[in-house]
Amino acid sequence: MDRAQHVPVLAGRVTALLAPALAAEGAVLVDATLGRAGHARALLEACPGLLLVGIDADVAAIEAARELLAPFAARVTLVHARYDEIPAILAAAATNAHGFMASSPLPQALSLYACRGDRRASACLSSSPAAASR
Ligand SMILES: C[S@@+](CC[C@H](N)C(=O)[O-])C[C@H]1O[C@@H](n2cnc3c(N)ncnc32)[C@H](O)[C@@H]1O
Repeated sequence: MDRAQHVPVLAGRVTALLAPALAAEGAVLVDATLGRAGHARALLEACPGLLLVGIDADVAAIEAARELLAPFAARVTLVHARYDEIPAILAAAATNAHGFMASSPLPQALSLYACRGDRRASACLSSSPAAASR
């Protein structure tokens, strides 16, 4: 199926704010409410060395994101889960093909939506295996 791209209203502003922190080769972004991946796509385009872990509780969103992010598949890990599972997701991602945790001790950015709307996401991150190794 051919999916139409979704461009969020704030994609430009979010990209301008986050891209400087995600410019390094191997930087990791966790979008904990991936949806149709509008922000994720904008950041993958802006940051050629960026690795994405995209999480969504809706399997249809994950399927749509897989198609929409196909040009970036080599840098993308998609997970169908709720974002309060972030510690386990990141631990599993540490052993995936990207091996990003070996070179990056801590995801540089979490979904703004998740952090702002539910403080558990940032709490999970601070107790994640990645953070513990810092
Ligand atoms: C507004 S959309 C996200 C927009 C997206 N980040 C973008 O760039 O366009 C919200 C998404 O959050 C997902 N969601 C809501 N609660 C969630 C949870 N607890 N864990 C993971 N995903 C969740 C929904 O399934 C939906 O796809």
